[in-house]
Amino acid sequence: MEKTFLMLKPDAVQRRMIGKLVQRFEEKGFELIGAKLMRMTMAQAEAHYAEHTDKPFYGELLEFITSGPVFAMVWQGEGVVAMSRLMIGKTNPLEAAPGTIRGDFATDKGNNIIHGSDSPESAEREVANAFHPEELLIFDPFLPKLEA
Ligand code: PPS
Repeated sequence: MEKTFLMLKPDAVQRRMIGKLVQRFEEKGFELIGAKLMRMTMAQAEAHYAEHTDKPFYGELLEFITSGPVFAMVWQGEGVVAMSRLMIGKTNPLEAAPGTIRGDFATDKGNNIIHGSDSPESAEREVANAFHPEELLIFDPFLPKLEA
C-alpha cells in the first residue's frame, strides 16, 4: 500500500493546528500508521532537504524546520502521495488554491504549515529519516533495523 510522509512544520505546531490538519487527512479516508511530535536534528533536516542544497533559501529552510517541534506522520492509502500534495496546495501562497491547506492557512513561502512527499520514493526515504520501523503500526520491511 502506498505511503507518504507528512510533516506539520513548526509554524503549524505553534499555531495549534495539529488536530485540525490531522482531521483533514482522516476525513479524506487515509490511514494514519505513525505519528509523533519531534524536534528534527540538523542532520535529519539536512537529509530531508538534501535535494535543495543549491537553493538560495536552503539555510533559512534548515533554520526554520529545526526551530521548534514538528508533527511527523506516515499515512497510507491508494494515491496518497499525489492526493495529499493536492490537499496541501502549491508552495507559492499566491498560487495555493482556497480549500487547500496552504491556500487556507499560509501567506508565506517558507513558513508554509506542512510538508508532503513528492513521490513514493521520496516518501520511503523521508519516513526512514524520521521514524524507526517499530514506531509504525504496520511493520515496513524497507525501513532499516534499529540498532540494539
Ligand atoms: S523548487 O524550487 O520547486 O524545488 O522548490 P519547492 O519545491 O517549491 O520548495 C522546496 C522546499 O523549500 C521550501 N521553500 C522555501 N523555504 C524558505 N524560503 C523560501 N523562499 C522557500 N521557497 C520554497 C518549500 O516549502 C519546500 O519545502 P517543503 O517542506 O517540501 O514544502
